[in-house]
Amino acid sequence: MEQLSNYSQEHKEQLLNELFDLLRIPSVSADSAFNQEVAKTAEAVKQSLEKAGCDNVTMYPTAGHPIVYAEKIIDESLPTVLVYGHYDVQPADPVELWDTEPFEPVIKKTEKHPDGAIFARGACDDKGQMFMHVKAVEAMIQNDLLPCNVKFMIEGEEEVGSPNLEIFIKEQGELLKNDIILISDTSMIDNSIPSIDTGLRGLSYVEVEVTGPNIDLHSGVYGGAVANPINVLCDMISASMDENKHITIPGFYDKVIPLTEDERAELAEAPFDLDAYKKSLDIEDVQGEKGYATSERNSIRPTFDVNGIWGGYIGEGSKTVLPSKAYAKISMRLVPNQDWHEITELFTKHFENIAPKSVKVKVTPHHGGMPYVIPTKHIGYKAAAAAIEKTFGKKPVPQRGGGSIPIVALFEKELKSKSVLMGFGLDSDAIHSPNEHYGVWNYLKGIETIPYFYKYYTELYKEEN
Ligand code: BES
Ligand code: MN
Ligand code: MN
Repeated sequence: MEQLSNYSQEHKEQLLNELFDLLRIPSVSADSAFNQEVAKTAEAVKQSLEKAGCDNVTMYPTAGHPIVYAEKIIDESLPTVLVYGHYDVQPADPVELWDTEPFEPVIKKTEKHPDGAIFARGACDDKGQMFMHVKAVEAMIQNDLLPCNVKFMIEGEEEVGSPNLEIFIKEQGELLKNDIILISDTSMIDNSIPSIDTGLRGLSYVEVEVTGPNIDLHSGVYGGAVANPINVLCDMISASMDENKHITIPGFYDKVIPLTEDERAELAEAPFDLDAYKKSLDIEDVQGEKGYATSERNSIRPTFDVNGIWGGYIGEGSKTVLPSKAYAKISMRLVPNQDWHEITELFTKHFENIAPKSVKVKVTPHHGGMPYVIPTKHIGYKAAAAAIEKTFGKKPVPQRGGGSIPIVALFEKELKSKSVLMGFGLDSDAIHSPNEHYGVWNYLKGIETIPYFYKYYTELYKEEN
């Protein structure tokens, strides 16, 4: 693999240009207005896998956006790595908050990325990170250095909860058979403090509709006498957490497995600079569950957050109105052993119970997913840690990720394999936000690191089997 150590530097221009072409196609999976663009992106991913030298490169249509599959099987007796990633992106809105066009990538220097970062929607989440794998495998195939088998499954619906991927993996168990799943769709602490996520949170995402009177009313004529659904919804949201920011939904914590003091101590070793954190967000103070540090609140503890709330008059000026309806979208991040179906049910019962008789409440579940953990003694984790140590010159720190990739727990259930979360983004890369970016250094470093994962994983696999 040493032969490839200068590969990403030597091919820098081309590696950037090819990624830029992918970033220029606005593959927004949430908005059907972009369906053609999403299909074009899938086609571009397919072509890049063909160019990389993969076999059986196939587009699998689904009820939604297509899944791109590819493989390079060199020897059935060797282990197989399945690379998972997504080519879809979040909407670019609010577009006016971007400093440059979201789908016209440009390189600009930032404090965290003095060598420059690629600014574009999907640069980090996940086109840039996914594409590192395509190029790293291409380099290995072309130089006859691929030490094991590889399969790719790149989907186009991750950002909308992967609604069609579950049936695909259930039906395609044989095609997707693998020994380890490799994913770059998470972040590191810092370029000088490499880390690997050892877990992901689960998710329950619900929408609430509160109905009061059958029509919008005059807020003077009726105000004070008829329940205002927005006021009621706010009361219900407030009542869902106590003064210690403990979630009050009955049964919510019942299945949470508390971490042992040793586990907490191990995770606490990951460096975390609270002052820099507050400064980067322009906040005077943080807030969260009593008894837990910020770095625990955003990883090993469950949450309750309103993601959006609306109703009534929000146009220019003022209109005196007592609205008929109020709405909120609420996410609950979940931790190991919490079941998102159960939590969605507990939430629904809770909201129905606490709603006053003066309103009607309707809860609509959106998507969800189970939490996931990989032990640091797993050979997949060890291979990733060795690869990162090799190219970063430092042992990576294990940390739990706060985000969710719902399909990862399903991979474990359906394909019986563990996923390694070898992400190269930074939390400050603004994924899902305006001005998303991905460090040029991170992109090239990822391409340099990935081949070592294959090398070390194959070695550890042979030792174990
Ligand atoms: N790549 C992210 C997940 C992520 C980001 C995990 C950073 C850990 C660290 C993924 O694309 C994502 O955004 N997932 C969604 C869930 C999905 C169901 C919409 C999320 O976490 O909100
Ligand atoms: Mn992602
Ligand atoms: Mn995302």
